[in-house]
Amino acid sequence: MRTKVEVAEDLYWVGAVDWNVRDFHGYSTYKGTTYNAFLAVDDKITLFDTVKKDFKNDLVHNIRKVVDPAKIDYLVVNHVEPDHSGSLPEMMDLIKPEKLICSPRGKKAIIDHYHREDWPYEVVKTGDEISLGKRTVQFIETRMIHWPDSMFSYLKEDAILIASDGFGQHWATSERFNDEVDASELMHHATKYYANILTCYSPLIRKLLAAVQDMGLEIKMILPDHGLIWRDNPMQIVQAYDEWSRQVAKRKAVIVYDTMWHSTEMMARAVEDGLIESGVSTKLMDLSVNHRSDIVTEIHDAKAIVLGSPTLNNGMLPRMADILHYLKGLRPENKLGAAFGSYGWSGEAVKLMNQIMEETKVKLVHPGVKLQHVPTHEGLGKCVDLGREIGAAVKAEV
Ligand code: FEO
Repeated sequence: MRTKVEVAEDLYWVGAVDWNVRDFHGYSTYKGTTYNAFLAVDDKITLFDTVKKDFKNDLVHNIRKVVDPAKIDYLVVNHVEPDHSGSLPEMMDLIKPEKLICSPRGKKAIIDHYHREDWPYEVVKTGDEISLGKRTVQFIETRMIHWPDSMFSYLKEDAILIASDGFGQHWATSERFNDEVDASELMHHATKYYANILTCYSPLIRKLLAAVQDMGLEIKMILPDHGLIWRDNPMQIVQAYDEWSRQVAKRKAVIVYDTMWHSTEMMARAVEDGLIESGVSTKLMDLSVNHRSDIVTEIHDAKAIVLGSPTLNNGMLPRMADILHYLKGLRPENKLGAAFGSYGWSGEAVKLMNQIMEETKVKLVHPGVKLQHVPTHEGLGKCVDLGREIGAAVKAEV
């Protein structure tokens, strides 16, 4: 049997590692994830969060390494999305806690999900504190990070922040702490997580970070509910969130394209030439081989998005419609954009891509280039010029 994982004195990781999950509502979790839960052993033994329903046995097994689950007094639900609360009904039956602690919206969400008005709810708001004995827990509501019910639990004496979906990464590992894994891979997963889950909440994250700063909380460790615990230099991820939430862009462009008979692909490479000539770092991403969540991760710190699709049935190719729909929902800020594509006879794709970029508040820097059937050398020259114009616009702002 594996040994118990002690995070701090009398505080244990008791969560589950999901090596096999590959899709998280449209996000490709190609390296799995974890559902973290934490157990504080004190006068009032307290479990912070549960796990996805299928992993209830792992949670119980890990708790039993420390205490009999029936001895748990308080159960804190920081977030009701089923990857954290799916096992709540079974855990409530097993533990029968004295208190089920949640935010006001958390109580509503728990009842909406599990239809149990009779559980012993203790509703807490920002700034409320509960003593466990030698430890005090302070609660901070974090609406829309990731759902309206979300909150953080701050262990005051230890200066440990249990951060629910905040600061997480979808990455299954045998290690539990950030200083035990490769730092650049960890930051890649943290970036992908932010780009795909939290980008649309960036204005709220900016406010939350300011509020936490005003509260003057010391933070010695951050315990997210997904991925590695930030034990070494936890403020690095807070600083990264500060930068990501302000959507600070680099001198970088991402060309995203799909192609039917390689004409739009030829155009993409010509646009790439123009961008590189302008001195802008450029990524070329073919929608047939890149997952939408990896594309969004590249777009995250790019100043410009350049989209290419031929026209199909008076529209764009389906994979372009997919990424545009996904991107629009994430509401990226401060991006520049342009579009291009080949066509046979009607040629609506460029206009439609432009329209969705405008709806997404992407600033168009060019009306777009469309070329009939197979591009000529002169036609490709227009694409190189498009790349140059975008490059100049990027350099004017970054
Ligand atoms: Fe990890 Fe919003 O759930």
